[in-house]
Amino acid sequence: MAEASSFYITTPIFYVNDVPHIGHAYTEVAADVLARWHRQAGDDTWMLTGTDEHGQKILRTATANGVTPQEWADKLVADAWIPLLETVDIANDDFIRTTDARHEANVQKFLQKLYDDGHIYTGEYEGYYCVGCEEYKQESDLVAGTGEYEGQQVCAIHSKPVELLHEKNYFFRTSAFAERLLALYEERPDFVQPESARNEVLGWVRSGLADLSISRSTFDWGVKVPWDETHVVYVWFDALLNYITAVGYGQDDDEFSRRWPAQHIVGKDILRFHAVIWPAMLMAAGLEVPKGVFGHGWLLVGGEKMSKSKLTGIAPEQITSTFGSDAFRYYFMRAIAFGQDGSFSWEDLAARYQAELANGFGNLASRVVAMINRYCDGVVPRQGALEAADIEIGAVERRATDASWQAIDRIAIHEAIGAAWELVDALNGYLTAEEPWALAKDPERRDRLETVLATAYRGLGTLAVLLSPVLPKATAKLWTALGAPGTVQDARVDLAYEAELGERVAPLEALFPRVEVAE
Ligand code: MSP
Repeated sequence: MAEASSFYITTPIFYVNDVPHIGHAYTEVAADVLARWHRQAGDDTWMLTGTDEHGQKILRTATANGVTPQEWADKLVADAWIPLLETVDIANDDFIRTTDARHEANVQKFLQKLYDDGHIYTGEYEGYYCVGCEEYKQESDLVAGTGEYEGQQVCAIHSKPVELLHEKNYFFRTSAFAERLLALYEERPDFVQPESARNEVLGWVRSGLADLSISRSTFDWGVKVPWDETHVVYVWFDALLNYITAVGYGQDDDEFSRRWPAQHIVGKDILRFHAVIWPAMLMAAGLEVPKGVFGHGWLLVGGEKMSKSKLTGIAPEQITSTFGSDAFRYYFMRAIAFGQDGSFSWEDLAARYQAELANGFGNLASRVVAMINRYCDGVVPRQGALEAADIEIGAVERRATDASWQAIDRIAIHEAIGAAWELVDALNGYLTAEEPWALAKDPERRDRLETVLATAYRGLGTLAVLLSPVLPKATAKLWTALGAPGTVQDARVDLAYEAELGERVAPLEALFPRVEVAE
């Protein structure tokens, strides 16, 4: 048998200065949906997420709260970032913290190699720095401040003044990789996705690359530079390396070659780090560049990126406590074209929950299971002579399976769900047209009734498999009600239309119960 192909997917690692909001959960869910899809297609899948714990931002937050940065990070990880995974039902394979020994030791190893190979030199940085972004800024990255910062230049993302640094630092010769980066984008047009992100990256690199300061010497919360302990590694240089230290770089070559390279999912605000600096670092170390970098859009509030620092963050539990984790996952993956910005609204969420999940999918499942219980004593009937409508349902099952898998391959998550939903709509239309409840009243039409219910049952089985990466809880319940063997996650999603189902159905509670939305 051919070896399963490796699929390694990552989320950015999250700053622990604050608790998560739905923008962070959005990144997690997208990576998780892709991971679950690939896992269920038989790929050797690995999903990594974690936390970014060094740097000035965390240090200042901890100090302001009267604790050490390590204490602060430990608390936030335990109380907020690990619980987020459960809140939105993430099935990650690993969770890395940049304070893990496996990470710190191998950051030093990587850096020492670059130093020994001549990619690092001593220099002086004089310029702006935004602690919110943990990023060196150019004059052109700044905008005029408003309100309390009127008259000052502020960071365009955080709307807060930047700091002026003047430090002796170590620099990474990023500029030496400009040509190789341009060749990479040229040879692999899907290295940076979507197209808009790729164009932006091309623009940056074509307009010239500056070398990057990769150490700081005015505070000590970070990984020590191995040859000069008066410096700590710049937090981004440290953080990007999580993607390889988590899969064995520097300590487990077999694991590393099994997993690496990864597909990275990141927000578009951190595209430059992932699509320019990170591949340059890997090239310098003689390692393979990532499989790809997908830059998704932002969740917006009032036209601006939702953020805690601007007090526009919504906690994921505010949504999941009412609607559940499945609805959270479905809503954000379906309503926003993956790669574009999107606005969240309670009205839109509640409307889609009712129309698509409760009435569209949930009600379909309840009706089919209830009719098999009622008209066939729970025994799944067999298809008899097929009519055109029954054959068409089989064809839709196949089309939906193929189209959703192709969309996942392109990282078009919203299209994958849309393709699966064609089957929801087709099955609802089929029931309306065939009226099994009317057939049930006529004993002469028993064969037809059984064929219709058997066809609908098969369609539901296909749907359960197809939607399981997005709606893991509801589809697990449905799978049990269908009496199908094993768990729905064991069924191949790329072959959903031929999933092995069961003989007897069990009662099914409402998959998406009515909710009362407090205004
Ligand atoms: N620590 C860095 C990443 C290092 S990766 C080597 C970081 N952390 S973050 O916590 O600020 O952001 C993590 C992710 O959340 C980013 O992909 C960011 O784009 C995403 N989001 C933060 N706010 C967001 C929205 N309002 N909408 C969508 N995603 C957003 O950056």
